Amino acid sequence: MKGVLLSGGTGSRLRPITHTGPKQLVPVANKPVIEYAIEDLKAAGITEIGVVLGNKGREEIQELLGDGSNYGVDITYIIQGNPLGLAHAAGCARDFVGDSDFVMYLGDNMLRHGVSDLIESFQAGEYGAGIALQEVSNPEAFGVADVDDQGTVTELVEKPDDPPSNLALIGMYVFSPAVFDVIDRLEPSWRGELEITDAIQLLLDEGHAIDSHVVTGWWKDTGKPEDILEANRLVLEDESLETAGVVEDGAEVDGRIELHESAVIEDGAVVRGPVSIAENTVIKSGTYIGPYTSIGANSELKNVHIENSVVIGESTITASERIVDSLLGRNANVESAEEFLPEGRRLVVGENSQLKL
Ligand code: G1P
Repeated sequence: MKGVLLSGGTGSRLRPITHTGPKQLVPVANKPVIEYAIEDLKAAGITEIGVVLGNKGREEIQELLGDGSNYGVDITYIIQGNPLGLAHAAGCARDFVGDSDFVMYLGDNMLRHGVSDLIESFQAGEYGAGIALQEVSNPEAFGVADVDDQGTVTELVEKPDDPPSNLALIGMYVFSPAVFDVIDRLEPSWRGELEITDAIQLLLDEGHAIDSHVVTGWWKDTGKPEDILEANRLVLEDESLETAGVVEDGAEVDGRIELHESAVIEDGAVVRGPVSIAENTVIKSGTYIGPYTSIGANSELKNVHIENSVVIGESTITASERIVDSLLGRNANVESAEEFLPEGRRLVVGENSQLKL
C-alpha cells in the first residue's frame, strides 16, 4: 500500500493567509496541517508517499517535508501543475503508484482517528475503491454516497442539489490501480474539474465493488479560516501538551499549556489552557491568553487579551484590545494607537482580508 498526498489547490477560501503560502502549511496547534496527514499515513504503516504538488507553494512544501526522513517515511514529489481536479491529481501519481493499491489523502484535511480502519475495511474484500464517509448537515457542499446495509456503495454524486444521503466523502480514499483507467476517460464536471467522485462512480458502473467506512472521530476540511480555528480547538483538546519553557514567578498559568523550551511566560501574564506557544515567543506582562489559542514562533505579546485564535508567527501584538476568534498571518503586527490623534483604527490590510471591528 502506497500513499498519495494531494498538496495542490489555490487556497482561495483562506486568503489572505494563502497569498504567501500553500494552505497545507497553515499551522494547527503550531504544526502544519500536512504533517498530520503524513503522521496518519505513517501510523497506518504507509512509508512510500507521493506528494502531488500544484503550482502554489511547491518549494515551501518540499522545504518542509524534504525526503521524508524526518518523519520516518520516503517521499517522492509529483508535479500536477494547474489544479484540474482531484482525479487529475490522482492520475498524475500513476507512475509512482505502479500496480500497488494506494491511499489518497487530501493534504488540507484532518482526521482524528487516522486511516488504518479505512484501509482494513478495504482490504477485507475485493474492492475497486474504498471511501471514508461522515454524516454532515450540509451534504450538498460535498461529494455524497448512498450505501446499503452492508456498507457497500450504491451511488456517488458530487455536490448534489438533491443529496441521496447525508454521508459526505471526506477526503481519504483507498484505490486499486483500476482507478487510473477510469480517470483517463473522465470528462470535466460543471466546475471544470475531473472529479474523483465521478471516477469512483465510473468504477461502480463498470462492476467494481466500492467499500465505505463511516468515520467516527472528528474530521475537518481546513479550507476556511473558521475551520482552522475549529481544527486548532479540536487538536488542543485532544493532544497531550508539554510545558518545557520558562514560566516566571508571578505568571498565572492554568490548564494544559504547550510551551516550547525556548518560550517564556513572563511575570504578570495570565495563560489559561489549552494553549500552544511555539519557539522563541515571549508572553509579556498584562497579556491574557485564553483557551484554544496557538501562538506561533518568534512572537511577542504584551497587554493583549487573546482567545480562541491562531497567530501563525513572527508577530508583535501589543494592543490593549480583546482579540477573539481570529487568524493572524505570519508577520502580522497589531499595536495600540491610543496616543495618536485623530482617534480611530489604523489599518494596513491585504487583499481578501476580513475584519470585524
Ligand atoms: C472535495 C471533493 C468532495 C469531498 C471534499 C472533502 O471537494 O470533490 O467530493 O467531499 O473534497 O473535503 P472540494 O474541496 O474540491 O470542493
